[in-house]
Amino acid sequence: MTLGRPRLHLRETGSTNDRARELAAAGAPHGTLVTAGAQTAGRGRQGRVWSAPPGHALLMSLVLREVHPLLPLAAAVGVAGAVGKDAQIKWPNDVLVGGRKVAGILAEGRPQDAWAVLGIGVNVAIRIDDLPPELHATAATLGREPAEVEPFLASLLASLERVLALAADELLDAWRARDALFGREITWSAGHGRAAGIDGEGRLVVELQDGGRTTLDAGEVHLDR
Ligand code: BTN
Repeated sequence: MTLGRPRLHLRETGSTNDRARELAAAGAPHGTLVTAGAQTAGRGRQGRVWSAPPGHALLMSLVLREVHPLLPLAAAVGVAGAVGKDAQIKWPNDVLVGGRKVAGILAEGRPQDAWAVLGIGVNVAIRIDDLPPELHATAATLGREPAEVEPFLASLLASLERVLALAADELLDAWRARDALFGREITWSAGHGRAAGIDGEGRLVVELQDGGRTTLDAGEVHLDR
């Protein structure tokens, strides 16, 4: 197992992604793991904040030096595998249980840096009531005990390791098997249509009302209903 060593655990930090980026820039090896009991400036995708009550969530970032071309999707497949057979993925990489988000993924890094930082937050043992009120209707929890955060980390690292070794077509098939949006009406910043899976580059394929198709390669989509 190459993911998870060396490991830096912080009782509290701003963002584990920021700590991991600093370590990556300083030459930390592939697989270096930063975990935290709490974050004071946890970051999500699209400039959002990531909130988690101290000690009740898995908050982690990995330094990767072998960067998988489909890393954001691969990470979602790995997290979903650790969460369980009912976990679904909302493109590109929100992990859902029962239609609600139980884990978020923030992959950062530029190709010219030859490294990426993979940040993952999983609501392992949170109580929904302890999250900010605006998340109550959309967040999920695994409902486990705080003592189970560490064993969950071990199974997640093993799952990620398996997924990152998959060939691209196997990975895409694994992602498609958990597609939460397939066949659903969706809206994004520039339009709406029906989600029709992902293409070979991991872009979301959308069928438009005029019978045409388009693909989305970044951003956020919302279910219409
Ligand atoms: C999202 O769904 O918007 C992505 C959320 C990513 C949150 C994790 S928590 C650990 C790591 N550190 C951060 O600041 N963000 C990621």
